[in-house]
Amino acid sequence: MKTPEHQAWNPTSWQTKPAQQQPVYRDQAALLDAVAQLSRLPPIVVSWEVEKLREELAEAQRGERFLLQGGDCAESFEDCDSAKIAQRLKILLQMSLVLTHGLKKPIIRVGRMAGQYAKPRSADTETRDGVTLPSYRGDIVNHAEFTPTAREPDPLLLLRGYERAALTLNFVRALIDGGFADLHHPEYWDLGFVGHSPFKLEYERIVASVADGLEFFETISAKEVHQSLRADFYASHEALVLHYEQAQTRFIPRQDRWYNLSTHMPWIGMRTAQIDGAHVEYCRGISNPVGVKIGTAMDAAWLQRLVTTLNPQNIPGKLVLIHRFGAKDIETALPKAIQAVRATGHGVVWICDPMHGNTETSQSGLKTRRFENILRELELASQIHRDAGSHLGGVHVELTGENVTECTGGARGLADLDLQRAYKSTVDPRLNYEQSLELALLIAERNRVSREARRR
Ligand code: PEP
Ligand code: CO
Repeated sequence: MKTPEHQAWNPTSWQTKPAQQQPVYRDQAALLDAVAQLSRLPPIVVSWEVEKLREELAEAQRGERFLLQGGDCAESFEDCDSAKIAQRLKILLQMSLVLTHGLKKPIIRVGRMAGQYAKPRSADTETRDGVTLPSYRGDIVNHAEFTPTAREPDPLLLLRGYERAALTLNFVRALIDGGFADLHHPEYWDLGFVGHSPFKLEYERIVASVADGLEFFETISAKEVHQSLRADFYASHEALVLHYEQAQTRFIPRQDRWYNLSTHMPWIGMRTAQIDGAHVEYCRGISNPVGVKIGTAMDAAWLQRLVTTLNPQNIPGKLVLIHRFGAKDIETALPKAIQAVRATGHGVVWICDPMHGNTETSQSGLKTRRFENILRELELASQIHRDAGSHLGGVHVELTGENVTECTGGARGLADLDLQRAYKSTVDPRLNYEQSLELALLIAERNRVSREARRR
């Protein structure tokens, strides 16, 4: 019998496999029409950018770069708004500045944005007062309101999602090309409320130190480092609704390969990572770097099949394993995972998502995460990779540039009781602006300390 990696692949071959978490579209003609339209529309990203990201990820795989991947758990169509997009970009740029300074490595910036519109759900239906309707699966599928019309999956939303993704990335690109991400002007990234942040001074000290470094370099080299220091920015989302991904999958003759051009780096969620499932089937045929969320339920054999199926040629930077074990399980699970992958002889980029294994319900019933657990998981990840002779290549976080109260802890000591004040997420709790910056500062600081200890 042929193993899956030796069977013929095409952008629709996933349809022959069991597909978890897919909307059931009643109007098949409308679905085919939406997919046909999407297939004709221009791509959101191009293969050169995807290849550049893969090369940068190959460097992260060798420990020479660090990936910062962050954004909302789910984007909503309503959040396609200039202020919110700019805020999210600002916090990611601030974090990356702090990380570059502290880790002494270039940072790869990847937003969970411009397509992060679909969510896996624990049940296909939801029942309220004896009425059962399809679950809300994100704005690209249906509407959150609990009425039969709102909950009916609508194929036209695939097109609305594509448009919003394009509008979002268009704005981000214009900001970056216009100089927004220029390291000479970190003041562009100030968020109104930063003035009150407990990290104001520490952040300003780093900004001043980067400015000094730039000035020194420009003085001795007698030229501006403008262009080379302009931040690149990539987009990523969970490749969940496969009709959307399929429609934007293109064969690029110059590269002689297939690419998903809806985003630079799609990832497979933990609930859809079955080896014989549709998501793995779809992702094994595209040339993009692909992420896979890794949890405690995945044994060595499963991990090894993922590695050999998704990156059979062992291309550096191609496969990104995003582990999300939780602070309490990472010490037992991660060493085994590293060992299992090593036994395949294939390389991967290891990323830690310290959010999804640390979700709990607060006393008031709200979903939350404790800052201390998030930090602890990250510290353990870094330590375990170092002890195993592996590299932690980056971090994957859910965050917002807004001043929300969804995760507890951090320097301001947000408590359970504070959560109600500004809890805006309809899905997972995100780090707010201050907690995100604090996390970057702490990663940078701990890294400096351990670097110095190793030097001694
Ligand atoms: C997510 O990233 O929002 C998510 C659902 O993660 P996971 O697949 O790891 O549970
Ligand atoms: Co989430």
